[in-house]
Amino acid sequence: MPPKQQQQPKNQVRKLNSRAAAAKICWEIVDQGRSLDTALADHVEQQQPSPSDKGFTQELVYGVCRWYGELNLVAKKYLRSPIRKKDRLVHFLLLVGFYQLRHLNTADHAVLAETVQGCKQLNKVWAKQLVNGCLRNHLRNPAEVADAVSASHPEWLQKELAHAWPNHALAVMHANNQRPPMCLRTNQMIQTRDAYLELLNNETIDAVADPHSMHGIILQTPRAVGDLPRFFEGSCSVQDTAAQLAATILDVQPHQAVLDACAAPGGKTAHMLECMNNKGTMHALDISEKRCEQLNTTLKRLNLNADIHVTDASLKPNWLVPTGGYDRILIDAPCSGLGVIRRHPDIKHHRRLSDIEKLNEVQARLLNNLWPHLAQGGLMLYMTCSILPSENEHQIRKFVTKTDNAQIQMIKHSMGLKLECGLQTLPGLHAMDGFYYSLIKKV
Ligand SMILES: C[S@@+](CC[C@H](N)C(=O)[O-])C[C@H]1O[C@@H](n2cnc3c(N)ncnc32)[C@H](O)[C@@H]1O
Repeated sequence: MPPKQQQQPKNQVRKLNSRAAAAKICWEIVDQGRSLDTALADHVEQQQPSPSDKGFTQELVYGVCRWYGELNLVAKKYLRSPIRKKDRLVHFLLLVGFYQLRHLNTADHAVLAETVQGCKQLNKVWAKQLVNGCLRNHLRNPAEVADAVSASHPEWLQKELAHAWPNHALAVMHANNQRPPMCLRTNQMIQTRDAYLELLNNETIDAVADPHSMHGIILQTPRAVGDLPRFFEGSCSVQDTAAQLAATILDVQPHQAVLDACAAPGGKTAHMLECMNNKGTMHALDISEKRCEQLNTTLKRLNLNADIHVTDASLKPNWLVPTGGYDRILIDAPCSGLGVIRRHPDIKHHRRLSDIEKLNEVQARLLNNLWPHLAQGGLMLYMTCSILPSENEHQIRKFVTKTDNAQIQMIKHSMGLKLECGLQTLPGLHAMDGFYYSLIKKV
């Protein structure tokens, strides 16, 4: 009698190695439209990988999402015909293999053995020979891909960037495909930046003061937040340099009345409250209930207070606006996110040109609806993490042209491109994410 095959108990999750896991997650992101963060978080919850497996899977997922266009061209060179739709997992496993061979220093024998093993784990035993053959062919004769960086961006995005930033588009795309540094914002209510640098130093965590932000620190190597001294006591937060500029540009002070109109998950709300020494009025709005819960968690960890409202800030207020209006309003508007691709490479796979028009409408509504609630002499900061003019400079130009009492203020910061209505940072040019800021005074 043939030996009885071992049955997998029902509900028991099959353990996947990092390569198989990364292939499955990339398939979910690219073909199924899932966000990288949630796909990765679900994987960790289901599989409970060791910290090193988790880190390596993450590296593979980010890498394949970043270099997807290039890796697809490479796959084409080694496959006689495209892999069938129902076997897309095999296609993604191949990309995971090519990514390791082309962009990592992993030993060749480990890449081959573990990636081929992934076929079995994904229930695609038939594909072992195919994957093995393609990877071995690549080792013997590595394919060359012209303009791999551009090829790894959708065509519509290449065109938009070339149109908006003819002299910088390539540098931006190059930066989009790099691993960004991990940046911290120290909580000045607890300790100075220098004092926190010393704490990091005591833990032998290599870090330097961020030359472009007042409270920022840049880590030499990314770390889990649990490794950061006194993180859970609120001593610091993870936030890119560009996001840290918001509170400084808006010049938020203690005892002011401040509105953060699109506040969740709360990075900038928290920074503004730290600048206010947690004194004054902070109304934090967001349309998403789930994200407001995250905002609440952020503020709790940092021991900060705000009135949080789940609401559509582009409609008539259903919260109590202070008499005389707000001293400061921040509109961190919903946007395409095209300035933060290096941190969220799945944006390249999910964003469509047709999204931009809808976003432009919401952005204009937010500006028009919130302006009446700014106090005379008060400041409004409109910002996005986009690098497309239609979401930024064009949007503000339209707004100030039709708003008599709106006066553009000069933003004094050494970084960024100074435009007629605001400041634009570009990844690849300014050592930070790509953000736009326009500071407007009510006169
Ligand atoms: C760029 S994110 C904000 C990030 C946040 N300021 C931070 O620093 O953590 C934009 C936010 O706008 C929210 N949003 C989108 N449309 C909105 C609307 N009409 N009213 C209020 N919030 C909105 C989204 O849910 C999202 O959380």
